Amino acid sequence: MQQIRRNRRLRTNDAIRSLVRDHVITPNDFLVPLFVVEGTNIKEEITSMPGYFRYSLDLLKAEVKEIWSLGLKSVLLFVKVPDELKDNKGTEALNPDGLMQRAVRTVKETIPEMLVMTDVALDPYSSYGHDGIVQDGYIVNDETCKVLAEMSLSHAQAGADFVAPSDMMDGRILAIRELLEKESYKNTGIMSYSAKYASAFYGPFRDALDSAPGFGDKKTYQMDFANREEAIKETLMDIDEGADIVMVKPGLCYLDLVRDVRDAVDVPVAVYQVSGEYAMLKAAAEKGWLDHDAVMLEQVMAFKRAGAHIIASYFAKDVVKLLG
Ligand code: PBG
Repeated sequence: MQQIRRNRRLRTNDAIRSLVRDHVITPNDFLVPLFVVEGTNIKEEITSMPGYFRYSLDLLKAEVKEIWSLGLKSVLLFVKVPDELKDNKGTEALNPDGLMQRAVRTVKETIPEMLVMTDVALDPYSSYGHDGIVQDGYIVNDETCKVLAEMSLSHAQAGADFVAPSDMMDGRILAIRELLEKESYKNTGIMSYSAKYASAFYGPFRDALDSAPGFGDKKTYQMDFANREEAIKETLMDIDEGADIVMVKPGLCYLDLVRDVRDAVDVPVAVYQVSGEYAMLKAAAEKGWLDHDAVMLEQVMAFKRAGAHIIASYFAKDVVKLLG
């Protein structure tokens, strides 16, 4: 048979490639993680995350303005809590004048239209570096959910638009949703880290917040990376309990799950390109082994192709600057 189908016709030049392209990356795709510390005039680089910084509240303002000026409209806040304020119950997490609560107010004062999401988990506040309360070496579930709900309420009271529970306790979405409803924070959203795996890719993040577990690991609450269908079960339960947005985390090694979840749900799906993924590319690029910008764009496009509506990424600013 004479060849009449030639797939390469659609790849002949940039114009035709653009015309038939499935996905585009825009600033609307991104959620920008931000690390906040106590003090003033602090902008310190995180050793294992080159080009990424922790900001004190005064310098956070300029950063938030820059993010907004690039067309990025959503941030996800994390705080580094001083050691002396850490305990087993995460008491400081509920302080109405705690660092997270002040950080939310600072962002909202700087750019009122910025969408502010807050991380909800005990690890930055925990003397054990665990996401929940520890009793006899075990992370207790229901007691932790209660604190997470109170923490979420406190973030909502400070002005957070969304809370983002990243702890993987059972039933925490329901606990949070019920308390927010009861206290009339009906429009506060929940972005649930629904399928969050116990991953070694979180290493640099734990450096950033000095939040590595003091004993053991997180495998009794975060998911086993050998499992697939469990991601759907976790995600559907979170939606039933009241999650508005669901998430798969980490990103690149888990694209199969991004697609599975996208096909299984009717709410927006987020993916988190985590700290270790950022560190890997930075290190390879520093050595001259990979083309930083090209690989970065290929990776974020992979998230969209896999089905993510939202990409939480430390590369957000770099990507948007490159888009021009
Ligand atoms: C805390 C939390 C972690 C991350 C987000 N929220 C670390 C962990 O679960 O140990 C990881 C983010 C990253 O690695 O970029 N619950």
